[in-house]
Amino acid sequence: MMKLGLFGYGVVGGGVGRIADGRDDMEVGRILVLPHEVDVDPRTVTNINDILTDESIDTVVEVMGGIHPAFEFVSSALKAGKNVVTANKALVAAYYKELIALAKENNVTFRCTAAVGGGIPWLVNLSRVRRVDTIESVWGIMNGTTNYILSSMTAQDVDFADVLKKAQELGYAEADPTADIDGHDIRRKLAISVGVAFDAAVEEANIPTFGIRNVTSADIQAFRNMGRTCKLLAYGQMTPDGVAAYVEPTIFTNDRLEASVGTNYNMISYKSNNAGIQSFYGQGAGRFPTAYNVVSDCLDIIAGEDSFYTDKAEPTALACGSVSHAYYVRTNVCDEFLSSITEEKGEGWVITAPVSVEKMHAWAQKQKEIDAGVFFAGIQ
Ligand SMILES: NC(=O)c1ccc[n+]([C@@H]2O[C@H](COP(=O)([O-])OP(=O)(O)OC[C@H]3O[C@@H](n4cnc5c(N)ncnc54)[C@H](OP(=O)(O)O)[C@@H]3O)[C@@H](O)[C@H]2O)c1
Repeated sequence: MMKLGLFGYGVVGGGVGRIADGRDDMEVGRILVLPHEVDVDPRTVTNINDILTDESIDTVVEVMGGIHPAFEFVSSALKAGKNVVTANKALVAAYYKELIALAKENNVTFRCTAAVGGGIPWLVNLSRVRRVDTIESVWGIMNGTTNYILSSMTAQDVDFADVLKKAQELGYAEADPTADIDGHDIRRKLAISVGVAFDAAVEEANIPTFGIRNVTSADIQAFRNMGRTCKLLAYGQMTPDGVAAYVEPTIFTNDRLEASVGTNYNMISYKSNNAGIQSFYGQGAGRFPTAYNVVSDCLDIIAGEDSFYTDKAEPTALACGSVSHAYYVRTNVCDEFLSSITEEKGEGWVITAPVSVEKMHAWAQKQKEIDAGVFFAGIQ
């Protein structure tokens, strides 16, 4: 019988507790909470050592979130010889190399399937396909909040600010939506995905990232007229120079599967040499979908999984200079660079010739200083 120590008992932790309590192959031993939460369950403790020194607890589930003290707590658990399952993408993206190494050194298993795609079994299938295939690329709609916003704006003629407010009321968006709408959340998931796909440890903070904060209903109308749908896309591909990984709004033709991913759903795909394209669709967040993936990781450990999804985490450069495509760009200050790559002009927007992802992101970051509302979207 697997005995769990939970770090955190909020949305996901509570879900893990509920699922585990109904099973006969695992049980929750102790739950680490903050002092104000001690009354939520008879198994709560407020001192991490009560879990670390409890030899009957073989596996820690970290669902408290944040980077510190989660990193210190998870490191202590690995050093204490406990397997760790986490849903914490911020932690894994920031300490990817270190956590894999620590698990290996201590002969324990480290898993984080719920950290990318919530309830979608993405990382496990990514590691499975790698047993046979070489991955060419990974990409996806990996953030439910932004997908809800973009889907709503596409379905009705509504402004970004109004949809964001509604998403907050429905619980799809946080009170501070920055991490979602500026692409930081999806960037963390991309960093972990390219890690597992390509054995690569990349500097998450350096991944070129442009969010959807500036998208307007006029942009969405222009996309409608083009027969396209806008999604916030995370993309990663191995190139001879390193990993081309980036996050940007992308307009897909309406016949692409990505275009029909509605409301807060996620869809994540890989392309590999034998399997071809395989896509995984489902709930990217939520108490029980996410807890389901955490419990599944625990079952994989019970079944004998004894490592991370890959043993290698080679520090790898980001190489967005080697991938190019056309862009939709809207700005009220057209400069020499934009003029030099413009192929088609619309009402307040242009379509560019293929331009490197690195150049477009660098230009847009600078352009924000003179036009804070600048918006662009990659064209697929
Ligand atoms: N919710 C989802 O749908 C979802 C989906 C995928 C992944 N995740 C990830 O899962 C993790 C947990 O998310 P969540 O939504 O369950 O968050 P949550 O509801 O805020 O739960 C976290 C719990 O941990 C507690 N906590 C914080 N610091 C602690 C500490 N030092 N010691 C003990 N307890 C502590 C919090 O207490 P206070 O509330 O008092 O701070 C809270 O009760 C995050 O990393 C998140 O990114 C969540």
